[in-house]
Amino acid sequence: MNDLLPSVAVTGWLFGLRALLLGGKVSSTHSGQWREHFAGVDMAVPVLGGGTVTGINFDNAASTPPLKRVRDLVNGFSDVYSSVHRGTGYKSRLSTEAYEQARERVADFLGVDEKHQVVIFVKGTTDALNRIAAEEARLDGRQVLVTEMEHHADLLPWRHRSGHVMVGLSEDGHIDLDAIEAALKQGNGKISLVALCGASNVTGFVSPIHDVAELAHRYGARISVDAAQLAPHHRIDVRPANDPGHLDFVSLSGHKMYAPYGAGVLVAPREFFAGAPEVMGGGAIDIVTWDDTVWADLPDREEAGSPNVIGAVAMGAAIETLLELGFDEMLDHESALGSRMLRGLSDIGGVGVLGSVEACTPARLALASFVVEGLHHGLVAAALSHEWGIAVRHGCFCANPYVFHLLHMGRERSARALPRTTPRPRSTGFSKRYARWPAARSRRLTSSRPMGRMRLLAGGRGSRACSTRS
Ligand SMILES: Cc1ncc(COP(=O)(O)O)c(C=O)c1O
Repeated sequence: MNDLLPSVAVTGWLFGLRALLLGGKVSSTHSGQWREHFAGVDMAVPVLGGGTVTGINFDNAASTPPLKRVRDLVNGFSDVYSSVHRGTGYKSRLSTEAYEQARERVADFLGVDEKHQVVIFVKGTTDALNRIAAEEARLDGRQVLVTEMEHHADLLPWRHRSGHVMVGLSEDGHIDLDAIEAALKQGNGKISLVALCGASNVTGFVSPIHDVAELAHRYGARISVDAAQLAPHHRIDVRPANDPGHLDFVSLSGHKMYAPYGAGVLVAPREFFAGAPEVMGGGAIDIVTWDDTVWADLPDREEAGSPNVIGAVAMGAAIETLLELGFDEMLDHESALGSRMLRGLSDIGGVGVLGSVEACTPARLALASFVVEGLHHGLVAAALSHEWGIAVRHGCFCANPYVFHLLHMGRERSARALPRTTPRPRSTGFSKRYARWPAARSRRLTSSRPMGRMRLLAGGRGSRACSTRS
């Protein structure tokens, strides 16, 4: 039906839509003024004593601010937003075109051949990985191989749905290819999937994803890359299906790549979604009778319910903007700042960086987690915020096994820690208590298990360009 309607007046991505709403390319891409591209980075935040300082966000590994162009596009797009796919009004057709062009933009960005793989819009990486795990769980007796480096989003769905084998890491927390190969061999064909992060949210270590992919394929398994941390910094290429190092699944989150509007992406092999979808509802079907259901083709079948159109369009806009800014230039800038941060942290007595202080390179993102001897991580984070206006994440960063590994705690010691770590203190509670606690302000604090984390954001000069998250 929509095919019969006159085409809407949008062509090309950010499309006619960019021309419609914004116009032009991003300015001064290589001027070194990275800060100017990000929203809210100059905001004044209150500190103890009643003053304000320009807030420093060292929490970008958790969530990034929007690119200004993405924010402006979202604002402009809100005026033309309408329901997608089945609406015939002009705005519906415009929104449908924008939504589907966002999908094409993601596919181009990741090098997806849409004949073999499908780009599905989801809520984020957690949602994407849970969907893969739900399908994997239907394969009786097959297991998923994970590493100790994984974020809980790339561990718990396998553990609790499909079953997993967890492989160790090198002493300083890098992926161990030999351990992965040994586990695959030992699995004797039972391992159907290798799941690993493209980069760690704790150390910033970048995984050799294509090498692991080759290993997985050699032993008859597929590979799933949790690209939540990698995608904002590196170009990812899924590679053609006949390349032994190709990536079968890629998951990522818009809010970690400067488009915090609730959308994420799952790239998966088309034939993976063979049966009924895990999430069922409107939009996912061709026809429903009293007794029967005919599922729609992909990607609709895996996008039941009303999709997050604005989130998807924002992701497409963020990707386009990052490409224009230049991933190589951005990574160079981030690496310079990250190396400076690591040097600075290692020069402070009593501060230890988790997983070594090697310089930031393409193999290590500009991110650092650190412990402060004798101070609880919550109090360190609260002091940074209340005294300096510096936002960091603290705790175990949703990657407990990895943090235990980096702290050399081992299985038994970490198991003993279980009752004491739940419930763990929430940062807001610490902040409130810190603000009321004179002893904290006079820095006479003592506590156990200190930890904090910083991650750099491509933005700004010097330390103001940095941010953190857990
Ligand atoms: C490596 C990694 N994987 C997965 C996730 C989960 O992403 P989301 O919360 O967007 O689903 C995160 C979030 O911090 C992460 O750092």
